[in-house]
Amino acid sequence: MRGLWATNWISGFILTELMLRSNEFCNFSTEYPSLLELGCGNGMSSIAAAINGKFNVSTTDFDNNALTLSKENAALNNQTSINYFTLNWHNVPSNFPEFDMIIGADIIYMRNSLISISNLILNKLKPNGIAILIDPGRCYVEEFLEHLKAINENRILLLFNLITKTNFKNNFKFVKSLNVLILQKLDSVVDIERSNANFKVFYSHIDKILDQIHVNFTENRVSDNCNLEYGFSV
Ligand SMILES: *[C@@H]1O[C@H](CO)[C@@H](O)[C@H](O)[C@H]1NC(C)=O
Ligand SMILES: *[C@@H]1O[C@H](CO)[C@@H](O)[C@H](O)[C@H]1NC(C)=O
Ligand SMILES: *[C@@H]1O[C@H](CO)[C@@H](O)[C@H](O)[C@H]1NC(C)=O
Ligand SMILES: *[C@@H]1O[C@H](CO)[C@@H](O)[C@H](O)[C@H]1NC(C)=O
Repeated sequence: MRGLWATNWISGFILTELMLRSNEFCNFSTEYPSLLELGCGNGMSSIAAAINGKFNVSTTDFDNNALTLSKENAALNNQTSINYFTLNWHNVPSNFPEFDMIIGADIIYMRNSLISISNLILNKLKPNGIAILIDPGRCYVEEFLEHLKAINENRILLLFNLITKTNFKNNFKFVKSLNVLILQKLDSVVDIERSNANFKVFYSHIDKILDQIHVNFTENRVSDNCNLEYGFSV
């Protein structure tokens, strides 16, 4: 039985869709050519970024089984250019490279990782880089953002899916679309109207994502353990 990481969480689909379609509305891959994924799981989002063509994708996980599965899935998609690194958020080598874009889906789920992940972003995101994180809206998010205060707020894009409702407040602006709640600080790099138009389709497009990305689901499902704290699988 593979671990929770092998499951396709909703957040992973959102990130995958974003990576597949980012050039349609942001030209992300030309603006931010080097990309680091934190906690790649089964590799779907990194594969999507690689299919996108222009990103130099480095995908990481603490669990080598996740990297192995990601490689298998990349091979199913004929994606051979992805770089794989085992990465411990609590012990990032100082010579680990810096990146233009750091992405992660469902990585803010353990309180004892908040400081490590935020330090990683502060240390390894290039000066004009951007971090894109997707989360169902877990209780740790505000605390996590506190740790990232040193970074210009326009460089963090946090997208929340609607499955868990959250009560974030004040300096955030909510954009409610059909299925996805987009929470971003004002003046975020992604224009709200455009992102609204694009994110609207996320959930209804899961089948289409799976048409484009071939993921080996065998043994990937973990059915009984999915409580709200960890999000939902589909
Ligand atoms: C993306 O880049 C291409 C070519 O550089 C350009 O034609 C297009 O308008 C850009 N798209 C957006 C949404 O900025
Ligand atoms: C892609 O990124 C990896 C990891 O940082 C780096 O070693 C490699 O040189 C990069 N490749 C290109 C073509 O920039
Ligand atoms: C991968 O390449 C093989 C051999 O060229 C081809 O048959 C297959 O359809 C490709 N798979 C995808 C997902 O593009
Ligand atoms: C999918 O994974 C299973 C279990 O690891 C493996 O037996 C099977 O060969 C894989 N399928 C493909 C198409 O890679």
